[in-house]
Amino acid sequence: MYVLGIESSCDETGLAIYHSERGLIGSVLHSQVKMHQKYGGVVPELASRDHIQRLVPLLDEVLKQADIDQSSLDLIAYTAGPGLIGALLTGASFAKSLALGLAKPSLAVHHLEAHVLAAQLDFPELTFPFLALLISGGHTQLIQANSLGNYQLIGESVDDAVGEAFDKTARLMGLPYPGGASLAKLADRAATFPTLPYFSPFPRPMTDKPTLNFSFSGLKTHAMITWNDSEQNEAAQIAIAQAFQEAVIDTLTIKCKNAIKQTQNIRLVVGGGVAANQALRKKLVQLMDDLNGKVYFPRPEYCTDNGAMIAYAGYRNFIAGAFDNDHGIHVKARWAFE
Ligand code: KG4
Ligand code: ZN
Repeated sequence: MYVLGIESSCDETGLAIYHSERGLIGSVLHSQVKMHQKYGGVVPELASRDHIQRLVPLLDEVLKQADIDQSSLDLIAYTAGPGLIGALLTGASFAKSLALGLAKPSLAVHHLEAHVLAAQLDFPELTFPFLALLISGGHTQLIQANSLGNYQLIGESVDDAVGEAFDKTARLMGLPYPGGASLAKLADRAATFPTLPYFSPFPRPMTDKPTLNFSFSGLKTHAMITWNDSEQNEAAQIAIAQAFQEAVIDTLTIKCKNAIKQTQNIRLVVGGGVAANQALRKKLVQLMDDLNGKVYFPRPEYCTDNGAMIAYAGYRNFIAGAFDNDHGIHVKARWAFE
Protein backbone atom coordinates (compact mmCIF):
# COMPACT_ATOMS: atom_id res chain seq x y z
CA MET A 1 0.00 0.00 0.00
CA TYR A 2 1.02 3.62 -0.62
CA VAL A 3 0.83 6.05 2.30
CA LEU A 4 1.13 9.81 1.88
CA GLY A 5 2.41 11.61 4.99
CA ILE A 6 1.90 15.34 5.53
CA GLU A 7 3.75 17.35 8.19
CA SER A 8 2.83 21.01 8.85
CA SER A 9 2.91 21.41 12.64
CA CYS A 10 5.48 24.21 12.79
CA ASP A 11 7.80 25.78 10.21
CA GLU A 12 8.43 22.88 7.85
CA THR A 13 6.10 21.63 5.14
CA GLY A 14 7.06 17.99 4.61
CA LEU A 15 5.41 15.42 2.35
CA ALA A 16 6.51 11.83 1.81
CA ILE A 17 5.26 8.54 0.39
CA TYR A 18 5.89 5.27 2.19
CA HIS A 19 5.25 1.93 0.50
CA SER A 20 4.49 -1.12 2.63
CA GLU A 21 7.07 -3.31 0.85
CA ARG A 22 9.47 -0.89 -0.77
CA GLY A 23 9.77 1.54 2.15
CA LEU A 24 10.17 5.25 1.60
CA ILE A 25 9.82 6.10 -2.11
CA GLY A 26 9.55 9.89 -2.00
CA SER A 27 10.21 12.69 0.44
CA VAL A 28 10.14 16.47 -0.08
CA LEU A 29 10.47 19.36 2.32
CA HIS A 30 10.18 23.11 2.37
CA SER A 31 11.72 24.85 5.38
CA GLN A 32 10.43 28.30 6.35
CA VAL A 33 13.54 29.08 8.39
CA LYS A 34 14.65 31.98 6.18
CA MET A 35 11.21 33.59 6.37
CA HIS A 36 11.09 33.52 10.20
CA GLN A 37 14.75 34.39 10.74
CA LYS A 38 14.28 38.15 10.73
CA TYR A 39 11.75 37.83 13.58
CA GLY A 40 14.06 35.61 15.66
CA GLY A 41 11.45 32.85 15.91
CA VAL A 42 8.44 31.29 14.23
CA VAL A 43 5.57 33.71 13.48
CA PRO A 44 2.51 31.41 13.56
CA GLU A 45 0.33 33.34 11.09
CA LEU A 46 3.13 33.56 8.52
CA ALA A 47 3.81 29.85 8.99
CA SER A 48 0.18 28.92 8.22
CA ARG A 49 0.03 31.14 5.13
CA ASP A 50 3.22 29.66 3.78
CA HIS A 51 2.11 26.04 4.34
CA ILE A 52 -1.01 26.74 2.26
CA GLN A 53 1.11 27.87 -0.68
CA ARG A 54 3.52 24.93 -0.48
CA LEU A 55 1.19 21.96 -0.07
CA VAL A 56 -0.05 21.57 -3.67
CA PRO A 57 3.34 21.98 -5.42
CA LEU A 58 5.00 19.67 -2.87
CA LEU A 59 2.33 17.01 -3.45
CA ASP A 60 3.00 17.14 -7.20
CA GLU A 61 6.72 16.87 -6.53
CA VAL A 62 6.51 13.92 -4.15
CA LEU A 63 4.17 12.00 -6.50
CA LYS A 64 6.64 12.58 -9.31
CA GLN A 65 9.52 11.37 -7.14
CA ALA A 66 7.61 8.22 -6.21
CA ASP A 67 6.49 7.83 -9.83
CA ILE A 68 2.85 7.26 -8.93
CA ASP A 69 -0.48 8.97 -9.56
CA GLN A 70 -2.71 10.45 -6.81
CA SER A 71 -5.22 7.67 -7.38
CA SER A 72 -2.62 5.07 -6.27
CA LEU A 73 -2.54 6.49 -2.73
CA ASP A 74 -4.19 4.16 -0.21
CA LEU A 75 -3.98 6.33 2.90
CA ILE A 76 -3.47 10.01 3.69
CA ALA A 77 -1.72 10.49 7.05
CA TYR A 78 -1.19 13.95 8.53
CA THR A 79 0.12 15.57 11.70
CA ALA A 80 -2.89 16.40 13.90
CA GLY A 81 -0.87 17.71 16.87
CA PRO A 82 0.80 18.85 18.97
CA GLY A 83 1.90 22.06 17.22
CA LEU A 84 0.78 25.50 16.09
CA ILE A 85 -2.99 25.40 15.67
CA GLY A 86 -3.13 27.32 12.37
CA ALA A 87 -0.23 25.42 10.87
CA LEU A 88 -1.78 22.09 11.88
CA LEU A 89 -5.10 23.14 10.32
CA THR A 90 -3.53 23.74 6.90
CA GLY A 91 -2.05 20.22 6.65
CA ALA A 92 -5.10 18.57 8.19
CA SER A 93 -7.58 20.38 5.90
CA PHE A 94 -5.48 19.53 2.87
CA ALA A 95 -5.17 15.88 3.91
CA LYS A 96 -8.88 15.47 4.66
CA SER A 97 -9.93 17.14 1.39
CA LEU A 98 -7.57 14.94 -0.59
CA ALA A 99 -8.82 11.81 1.18
CA LEU A 100 -12.45 12.81 0.56
CA GLY A 101 -11.76 13.60 -3.10
CA LEU A 102 -9.95 10.31 -3.67
CA ALA A 103 -12.40 8.33 -1.50
CA LYS A 104 -9.48 6.99 0.55
CA PRO A 105 -9.03 6.80 4.33
CA SER A 106 -7.19 9.47 6.30
CA LEU A 107 -5.37 9.15 9.61
CA ALA A 108 -4.43 11.69 12.30
CA VAL A 109 -0.82 11.19 13.44
CA HIS A 110 0.69 12.30 16.75
CA HIS A 111 3.82 14.33 15.92
CA LEU A 112 5.81 13.00 18.88
CA GLU A 113 4.97 9.37 18.16
CA ALA A 114 6.22 9.98 14.61
CA HIS A 115 9.54 11.36 15.98
CA VAL A 116 9.92 8.28 18.18
CA LEU A 117 9.15 5.83 15.34
CA ALA A 118 11.39 7.65 12.80
CA ALA A 119 14.46 5.51 13.64
CA GLN A 120 12.56 2.43 12.40
CA LEU A 121 12.72 3.82 8.86
CA ASP A 122 16.42 2.88 8.85
CA PHE A 123 16.33 0.13 11.48
CA PRO A 124 13.37 -2.14 10.72
CA GLU A 125 14.73 -4.65 13.26
CA LEU A 126 14.03 -2.14 16.04
CA THR A 127 10.98 -3.57 17.83
CA PHE A 128 9.17 -2.63 21.06
CA PRO A 129 9.81 -2.27 23.95
CA PHE A 130 12.45 0.45 24.13
CA LEU A 131 13.30 3.65 25.92
CA ALA A 132 12.85 6.85 23.88
CA LEU A 133 14.50 10.21 24.37
CA LEU A 134 12.58 12.88 22.52
CA ILE A 135 14.48 16.14 22.18
CA SER A 136 13.10 18.90 19.97
CA GLY A 137 12.39 22.62 19.97
CA GLY A 138 9.20 22.10 21.96
CA HIS A 139 9.74 18.89 23.93
CA THR A 140 12.22 17.07 26.14
CA GLN A 141 10.78 13.73 27.21
CA LEU A 142 11.87 10.29 28.33
CA ILE A 143 9.35 7.68 27.30
CA GLN A 144 8.98 4.00 28.06
CA ALA A 145 7.64 2.74 24.72
CA ASN A 146 5.91 -0.58 25.45
CA SER A 147 4.11 -1.17 22.17
CA LEU A 148 2.51 0.86 19.39
CA GLY A 149 0.22 3.37 21.10
CA ASN A 150 1.32 2.32 24.59
CA TYR A 151 3.71 4.96 25.86
CA GLN A 152 4.56 5.93 29.41
CA LEU A 153 6.06 9.34 30.12
CA ILE A 154 8.78 8.82 32.75
CA GLY A 155 10.51 12.20 32.59
CA GLU A 156 10.19 15.61 30.98
CA SER A 157 11.46 19.16 31.17
CA VAL A 158 9.84 21.29 33.84
CA ASP A 159 10.71 24.46 31.88
CA ASP A 160 12.57 24.99 28.56
CA ALA A 161 12.90 22.20 26.00
CA VAL A 162 16.51 21.33 25.03
CA GLY A 163 16.12 22.73 21.50
CA GLU A 164 14.61 25.89 22.92
CA ALA A 165 17.59 26.32 25.30
CA PHE A 166 19.97 25.80 22.37
CA ASP A 167 18.05 28.37 20.29
CA LYS A 168 17.89 30.96 23.10
CA THR A 169 21.59 30.62 23.94
CA ALA A 170 22.47 30.94 20.27
CA ARG A 171 20.27 34.01 19.87
CA LEU A 172 21.85 35.63 22.92
CA MET A 173 25.23 35.44 21.18
CA GLY A 174 23.87 36.88 17.94
CA LEU A 175 23.37 33.68 15.93
CA PRO A 176 20.34 33.52 13.61
CA TYR A 177 17.23 31.45 14.42
CA PRO A 178 17.10 28.48 14.87
CA GLY A 179 20.52 28.48 16.47
CA GLY A 180 20.84 24.83 17.60
CA ALA A 181 22.85 23.61 14.64
CA SER A 182 24.99 26.80 14.43
CA LEU A 183 25.74 26.65 18.16
CA ALA A 184 26.85 23.03 17.72
CA LYS A 185 29.12 24.08 14.84
CA LEU A 186 30.71 26.77 17.05
CA ALA A 187 31.22 24.25 19.85
CA ASP A 188 33.01 21.90 17.47
CA ARG A 189 35.59 24.61 16.75
CA ALA A 190 36.68 24.74 20.42
CA ALA A 191 39.19 21.90 20.04
CA THR A 192 41.23 23.74 17.41
CA PHE A 193 40.75 27.39 18.43
CA PRO A 194 44.09 28.87 19.66
CA THR A 195 43.13 30.33 23.08
CA LEU A 196 39.76 30.28 24.79
CA PRO A 197 38.77 32.32 27.84
CA TYR A 198 38.16 30.51 31.14
CA PHE A 199 34.61 30.55 32.48
CA SER A 200 33.25 29.04 35.69
CA PRO A 201 31.80 25.55 35.07
CA PHE A 202 28.29 25.24 33.62
CA PRO A 203 25.78 23.31 35.81
CA ARG A 204 24.34 19.85 35.02
CA PRO A 205 20.81 20.66 36.25
CA MET A 206 18.89 18.13 38.36
CA THR A 207 21.43 15.36 37.79
CA ASP A 208 22.02 14.91 41.53
CA LYS A 209 18.36 13.99 42.05
CA PRO A 210 16.71 10.62 41.35
CA THR A 211 13.94 12.25 39.26
CA LEU A 212 14.02 11.72 35.50
CA ASN A 213 12.74 15.26 34.92
CA PHE A 214 14.90 17.93 33.34
CA SER A 215 15.33 21.67 33.74
CA PHE A 216 17.20 23.80 31.22
CA SER A 217 16.25 27.37 32.05
CA GLY A 218 18.98 27.73 34.72
CA LEU A 219 21.61 26.52 32.28
CA LYS A 220 20.38 29.05 29.73
CA THR A 221 20.59 31.81 32.37
CA HIS A 222 24.10 30.68 33.30
CA ALA A 223 25.08 31.03 29.62
CA MET A 224 23.53 34.51 29.56
CA ILE A 225 25.41 35.70 32.66
CA THR A 226 28.66 34.26 31.32
CA TRP A 227 28.14 35.99 27.94
CA ASN A 228 27.27 39.32 29.56
CA ASP A 229 30.43 39.18 31.69
CA SER A 230 32.65 38.13 28.78
CA GLU A 231 34.39 40.16 26.10
CA GLN A 232 31.61 39.07 23.70
CA ASN A 233 34.06 38.14 20.95
CA GLU A 234 34.50 35.03 18.80
CA ALA A 235 36.57 33.23 21.45
CA ALA A 236 33.85 33.81 24.07
CA GLN A 237 31.18 32.56 21.64
CA ILE A 238 33.10 29.36 21.00
CA ALA A 239 33.93 28.74 24.68
CA ILE A 240 30.31 29.31 25.76
CA ALA A 241 28.90 27.19 22.93
CA GLN A 242 31.22 24.37 23.92
CA ALA A 243 30.55 24.62 27.67
CA PHE A 244 26.79 24.85 27.06
CA GLN A 245 26.69 21.92 24.64
CA GLU A 246 28.81 19.78 26.95
CA ALA A 247 26.55 20.55 29.93
CA VAL A 248 23.43 19.65 27.92
CA ILE A 249 24.98 16.43 26.62
CA ASP A 250 26.21 15.37 30.08
CA THR A 251 22.77 16.08 31.55
CA LEU A 252 20.94 14.09 28.87
CA THR A 253 23.42 11.22 29.18
CA ILE A 254 23.12 11.00 32.99
CA LYS A 255 19.30 11.01 32.77
CA CYS A 256 19.33 8.32 30.07
CA LYS A 257 21.63 6.19 32.20
CA ASN A 258 19.27 6.54 35.19
CA ALA A 259 16.24 5.79 33.02
CA ILE A 260 17.91 2.66 31.65
CA LYS A 261 18.66 1.51 35.19
CA GLN A 262 15.07 2.19 36.24
CA THR A 263 13.35 0.56 33.26
CA GLN A 264 15.88 -2.22 32.52
CA ASN A 265 15.71 -1.29 28.85
CA ILE A 266 18.96 -1.71 26.97
CA ARG A 267 17.70 -0.16 23.77
CA LEU A 268 17.50 3.61 23.49
CA VAL A 269 15.82 5.44 20.62
CA VAL A 270 16.50 9.13 20.15
CA GLY A 271 14.29 11.45 18.09
CA GLY A 272 13.55 15.14 17.45
CA GLY A 273 15.68 17.95 16.02
CA VAL A 274 18.38 17.91 18.73
CA ALA A 275 19.03 14.22 17.93
CA ALA A 276 20.89 15.55 14.87
CA ASN A 277 23.64 16.81 17.24
CA GLN A 278 26.81 14.86 16.42
CA ALA A 279 28.55 15.30 19.80
CA LEU A 280 25.43 14.00 21.57
CA ARG A 281 25.26 11.02 19.23
CA LYS A 282 28.88 10.12 20.02
CA LYS A 283 28.30 10.33 23.77
CA LEU A 284 25.14 8.22 23.70
CA VAL A 285 26.79 5.58 21.51
CA GLN A 286 29.55 5.39 24.13
CA LEU A 287 27.01 5.11 26.97
CA MET A 288 25.08 2.31 25.31
CA ASP A 289 28.30 0.47 24.42
CA ASP A 290 29.34 0.63 28.08
CA LEU A 291 25.95 -0.76 29.11
CA ASN A 292 26.06 -3.51 26.44
CA GLY A 293 23.01 -1.96 24.83
CA LYS A 294 22.32 -0.09 21.62
CA VAL A 295 21.21 3.39 20.66
CA TYR A 296 19.21 4.13 17.51
CA PHE A 297 19.08 7.50 15.75
CA PRO A 298 17.09 8.46 12.68
CA ARG A 299 19.33 9.82 9.92
CA PRO A 300 19.79 13.59 10.54
CA GLU A 301 17.17 14.70 7.97
CA TYR A 302 14.54 12.58 9.72
CA CYS A 303 15.45 13.96 13.16
CA THR A 304 14.08 17.42 12.36
CA ASP A 305 10.45 17.73 11.21
CA ASN A 306 9.69 15.84 7.99
CA GLY A 307 6.94 14.05 6.09
CA ALA A 308 8.65 10.64 6.09
CA MET A 309 8.10 10.04 9.81
CA ILE A 310 4.40 10.97 9.41
CA ALA A 311 3.90 8.59 6.47
CA TYR A 312 5.61 5.79 8.43
CA ALA A 313 3.73 6.42 11.70
CA GLY A 314 0.51 6.58 9.65
CA TYR A 315 1.29 3.24 8.02
CA ARG A 316 2.08 1.55 11.36
CA ASN A 317 -1.11 2.80 12.99
CA PHE A 318 -3.28 1.99 9.97
CA ILE A 319 -2.17 -1.64 9.82
CA ALA A 320 -2.88 -1.79 13.56
CA GLY A 321 -6.49 -0.80 12.77
CA ALA A 322 -6.55 2.99 13.20
CA PHE A 323 -8.10 5.50 10.77
CA ASP A 324 -10.22 8.69 10.96
CA ASN A 325 -13.88 7.83 11.32
CA ASP A 326 -15.33 11.11 10.05
CA HIS A 327 -14.56 13.90 7.60
CA GLY A 328 -14.24 16.56 10.31
CA ILE A 329 -10.96 18.39 10.77
CA HIS A 330 -9.73 17.77 14.30
CA VAL A 331 -6.34 19.09 15.36
CA LYS A 332 -4.87 19.59 18.83
CA ALA A 333 -2.28 22.23 19.64
CA ARG A 334 -1.68 20.35 22.89
CA TRP A 335 -1.94 16.60 22.83
CA ALA A 336 -0.42 14.41 25.57
CA PHE A 337 1.84 11.67 24.26
CA GLU A 338 0.38 9.05 26.56
O1 KG4 B 1 12.00 18.39 15.87
P1 KG4 B 1 12.27 19.76 15.38
O2 KG4 B 1 12.63 19.94 13.93
O3 KG4 B 1 11.04 20.70 15.61
C1 KG4 B 1 10.22 20.59 16.72
O4 KG4 B 1 9.29 19.76 16.69
O5 KG4 B 1 10.51 21.35 17.67
O6 KG4 B 1 13.42 20.38 16.32
C2 KG4 B 1 13.96 21.66 16.10
C3 KG4 B 1 14.99 21.96 17.19
C4 KG4 B 1 15.44 23.41 17.17
O7 KG4 B 1 15.41 23.91 18.49
C5 KG4 B 1 16.87 23.32 16.64
O8 KG4 B 1 17.71 24.35 17.08
C6 KG4 B 1 17.31 21.98 17.18
O9 KG4 B 1 16.18 21.16 17.01
N1 KG4 B 1 18.48 21.43 16.46
C7 KG4 B 1 19.69 21.18 17.04
C8 KG4 B 1 20.53 20.68 16.02
N2 KG4 B 1 19.80 20.63 14.85
C9 KG4 B 1 18.55 21.08 15.15
N3 KG4 B 1 20.11 21.35 18.31
C10 KG4 B 1 21.39 21.01 18.58
N4 KG4 B 1 22.26 20.53 17.66
C11 KG4 B 1 21.88 20.33 16.38
N5 KG4 B 1 22.75 19.85 15.48
ZN1 ZN C 1 9.19 17.94 15.70
